[in-house]
Amino acid sequence: MASEDDMEPSEFIRQLQDGGLFEGREELLDQLRMLAARGVHPLEALQMMRRAPPEEEQMEQVLPSFDIEGIARYIAEKECKKVVVMCGAGISTSAGIPDFRTPGTGLYDNLQRFNLPRAESIFEMNFFRHNPAAFYELAREMWPGNFSPTPAHYFLRLLHDKGILLRCYSQNIDSLERHAGLPADRLVAAHGNFDAAHVIDTEPEVEVDISELKAALDKGEDGWKRLRDEKGGLVKPKIVFFGEDLPDRFQQLFQSDLSSCDLLIVLGTSLVVQPFASLVGRAAKTAPRLLVNRDHAGRCEELTNGFRFHLEGKKNWRDAWYQGDCDTGCKALAEALGWREELQALIDSKGTAKVDRAPWCEFEPAQAEPSSL
Ligand code: OAD
Repeated sequence: MASEDDMEPSEFIRQLQDGGLFEGREELLDQLRMLAARGVHPLEALQMMRRAPPEEEQMEQVLPSFDIEGIARYIAEKECKKVVVMCGAGISTSAGIPDFRTPGTGLYDNLQRFNLPRAESIFEMNFFRHNPAAFYELAREMWPGNFSPTPAHYFLRLLHDKGILLRCYSQNIDSLERHAGLPADRLVAAHGNFDAAHVIDTEPEVEVDISELKAALDKGEDGWKRLRDEKGGLVKPKIVFFGEDLPDRFQQLFQSDLSSCDLLIVLGTSLVVQPFASLVGRAAKTAPRLLVNRDHAGRCEELTNGFRFHLEGKKNWRDAWYQGDCDTGCKALAEALGWREELQALIDSKGTAKVDRAPWCEFEPAQAEPSSL
């Protein structure tokens, strides 16, 4: 018989399930499945969870309360001007774009037709080099264009128009932040997007107009094979695959942005993909951090210097978790700041409404003008 850590993760989880470990603890079951999908064996995950939370130097409490109201009071009293937002697929699900890891509805639970060795293979360089057809078929379906920004996207725009957004780091490839009118210089598309394409494994990189790739994919297998032969290699949109570096812009900005931010807001992400997730632990030690997400994510047992909102007493001095939908959480924060009507006006006008700057930013020079795609 195989030892526990030799055992296939799914078999191991099944045995724990048979033993009743997850009764009334479905959240734990989901978490183990999610970690198994990214290669963490459930035995290792359980051992990690049992460990005491790693020590961090404790600080004075920086939030009046560990909730949306506490964050809103902090923003107004400290006159925040350097808010960094990190976001993921959860800000786009209400636009009709599935996330990746929600059991049942997430993309990774719905790729059976591609017969992949594991769900993430569809975004792995090595797999793509030898089996591009699966990604190309999915890319046709995922191609941006038919989706509209959500209230959470307009909340990013609101923070910008108020003059308090330093940067938004997004893992999403749908470009909806830009469609909501966030200027290019406020956004870091950490996992790339469909704005450009290139021939893989070329140095210097050979660029291909994205419309050429789109036209080829619309013709199916013949189309992409012809394009490959014409360009001397497979053409791929510039979205970041596992095994690829993040864009230079991410590398250039993240250290100074995170170390100087006065608040970090994290929206709709499971925080399991690195290096993106590591940004949470890089925020200035005195900066409060708010997670708006259906499930908890990025806690300090799972992520270096991760969130401590679940810890009692002095062990948490700056973290809050709003458990719920991004749209609802963003609206609640706007409301608590007295900005609800302006957010609604942005949503209703699809980003054309005029927003007043935050009172403490009134006389600051305006940042780049908002622009739409
Ligand atoms: P995930 O699918 O891993 O996580 C989405 C998170 O958002 C989950 O915790 C959901 O519970 C939560 N969620 C979903 N809808 C929500 C909503 N309306 N309101 C609040 N929370 C909601 O997606 P990401 O974390 O974005 O990378 O995934 C990270 C990366 O993994 C992606 O960029 C992609 C993927 O592999 C690449 O393709 C390189």
